[in-house]
Amino acid sequence: MQCTDIHDRFLFRLITKKAFLYTEMVTTGAIIHGGCLEQLSFNNDIEHPVAVQLGGSDPGDLAECSKICATLGYDEINLNIGCPSERVQKGSFGACLMEDPELVKECLEAMQEVTSTPITVKCRIGINERDDKDFLIQFVSKILNPNLKTIIVHARVAILKGLTPRQNRQIPPLKYDNVYQLKKEFPDLDIVINGGILDVNESLKHLEKVDGVMLGRSPYDNPMIVSNVDSIIFNEADLGEDRRSILKKYLQYCLIQKEQGHPLSRTLKHIFGLNRGLKNARAYRSLILETMQQNNLEKTKEDLIAMV
Ligand SMILES: Cc1cc2nc3c(=O)[nH]c(=O)nc-3n(C[C@H](O)[C@H](O)[C@H](O)COP(=O)(O)O)c2cc1C
Repeated sequence: MQCTDIHDRFLFRLITKKAFLYTEMVTTGAIIHGGCLEQLSFNNDIEHPVAVQLGGSDPGDLAECSKICATLGYDEINLNIGCPSERVQKGSFGACLMEDPELVKECLEAMQEVTSTPITVKCRIGINERDDKDFLIQFVSKILNPNLKTIIVHARVAILKGLTPRQNRQIPPLKYDNVYQLKKEFPDLDIVINGGILDVNESLKHLEKVDGVMLGRSPYDNPMIVSNVDSIIFNEADLGEDRRSILKKYLQYCLIQKEQGHPLSRTLKHIFGLNRGLKNARAYRSLILETMQQNNLEKTKEDLIAMV
């Protein structure tokens, strides 16, 4: 959330055409009662393959939202059962659902019933003290059905009391072996591993043991690390654009978006990492902030481009 919105996904499509992109989690409540259909919109012409992630625990609501997402043309609908935030726990969804595999199964079946779009889940290896291999294997065996073909696992437990979401992404140790074991137990499932994976080379090592790799913070903080993903992972030609031409195209997009009512604060926040590793990172960051504050990209556009 707050990261992979429609603008960020536009940026990533200037860098890789093959990587599967995921939306932020959108709750069923926001879709059904909040009228936030705008959060579900995506660029049908350029964004595929793209998955939408739903947060919720009511099978009927999840079915209704899945129908809407399938009609919009998403390539996959993912159910979040890994988010540990208190707000999400209060809504009885996210990671606390790992305590109730029967309900998860019901939710998945309700979603599968209304669409042929693949339904997937994203979970943790366990919750609270249950970070053992057996917990994950038992959990998956209880939610399994023939139409559930892909499970994404963040290789840490979620501690439901006492840790913030941020701490829950840092403090519990990564246990990749639990995810590898899951693949051994369920060889026919596509298992996607997530958590602490820094780049494409590290991804290749995991791909010897599992079917897919999901990266979160590392590409958000440094988008260029996925510029060779199409060739290395998918055996296709990379888009081959350098940072400067990517930034140029993205800033042009920001100007158009501004005219359509999307403030620069929303679009420019995704480019802080585009000059990662270069000497002038601080000046670049300050200029982005200044541009947002003054709401004037025309004035700083060329200077920003010259800084990457
Ligand atoms: C700011 C922020 C927002 C996140 N929002 C979501 C979300 O909406 N849905 C989700 O499944 N995971 C979310 N995550 C977790 C990431 O998807 C990922 O599981 C986690 O960061 C571990 O992977 P990484 O080490 O590659 O970042 C978020 C992470 C961050 C840092």
